[in-house]
Amino acid sequence: MSASPIQQAAASTPARLPGFSIGPVDVAPGLVLAPMSGVTDSPFRRLVKLASGDAVGLVVSEFISIELLTQRQLRMAVRMSFAESERPVAVQLYGSDPERMAEAARVVEGAGVDLLDINCGCPAPKIVRRGGGAGLLRDLPQIARILDATVAAVKIPVTIKIRNGWCENTVNALDTLRVAEEHGAQAIAVHGRTRMQLYRGVADWEVVRAMKAAARIPVLGSGDVLTASDALDRFVTTGCDGVMIGRGAINNPWIFRQIADEVAGREPFAPTWRDTIAVLRAYRGMLDALYPPKVAPGRMRMMLSRLLKGFHYAPDTRVTCLKMKDPGDMLDHLEAVCAALGVLDVRRSIGVSSGDGEAEAA
Ligand SMILES: Cc1cc2nc3c(=O)[nH]c(=O)nc-3n(C[C@H](O)[C@H](O)[C@H](O)COP(=O)(O)O)c2cc1C
Repeated sequence: MSASPIQQAAASTPARLPGFSIGPVDVAPGLVLAPMSGVTDSPFRRLVKLASGDAVGLVVSEFISIELLTQRQLRMAVRMSFAESERPVAVQLYGSDPERMAEAARVVEGAGVDLLDINCGCPAPKIVRRGGGAGLLRDLPQIARILDATVAAVKIPVTIKIRNGWCENTVNALDTLRVAEEHGAQAIAVHGRTRMQLYRGVADWEVVRAMKAAARIPVLGSGDVLTASDALDRFVTTGCDGVMIGRGAINNPWIFRQIADEVAGREPFAPTWRDTIAVLRAYRGMLDALYPPKVAPGRMRMMLSRLLKGFHYAPDTRVTCLKMKDPGDMLDHLEAVCAALGVLDVRRSIGVSSGDGEAEAA
């Protein structure tokens, strides 16, 4: 295998991570916010863009049910919404019926999204039982039928996201790659665990390397990238085109920027509590604009809880904020505590989220 752009770049100390293209869509740099149900809604994706700027090459939505989307359920329209500042943006769909997938794909394309991704990796029993998510890894001909119908239905590029395989005895990522290529997928992402592993153990990036060595389409790897050095190591050791970051971005939306800084030889950006409060205030505005008044405070509470994990100065602050009803009060309280303690300009330490949320959220 010849050296990939990132391998060549790494050898010559790059100023910027290279990107790649999915059809007409440039993903540059090749750092992608992974789809996360219950997390990567439009406000979170914009929060990440706000924190990490143009170090984010692509963002992917939470997965959306093709059944509910084609029934025109309002909450699915909310899940599909995005802002111009997010581009390029991919929407991910899940389901198992090819015609329904094609119909849902047309809805997604009509909304102006750049890429459509098909979920072939969700381990949640209620999705797998109906043949969707990782259930599709046990039925590659069905993936072929879904791709045939979907690719024919839309002009935007169609991609898929898979796991290594169903279980350790049926690791079939290379077979799935072949089906994806033969049936028109324009990129493939792989989370290096099997369905049966859920989120246990460590992700196997050897599968990513083997796929990249065999692939004609871009290959993205996913799993356990929590730091800049993790990301660089995965690019260099596998030659993959893109690295997805999921849980690493939940508590640290600045992670993409930190990776870009490190690659460019700069001191990685370390947000202060003032920076943290500023992105939370912006996030609050985005929540208010998108969700009904009953939903926004819950989302805010979740985000505040994640970002306050490293707040050791006054541990009761987190609990006090989380008990509050009004997101504005939460932020005012946090800011007042930071000001009283004199830590507004102190850099926050980064906690890392453990997650089996996909199974929980689905
Ligand atoms: C809370 C949560 C929700 C997730 N939801 C999705 C999803 O909707 N679609 C998907 O393809 N993967 C989903 N995943 C899997 C992630 O995209 C990613 O592949 C996995 O978490 C491994 O990467 P990480 O270690 O960087 O988190 C989810 C993961 C988490 C933690």
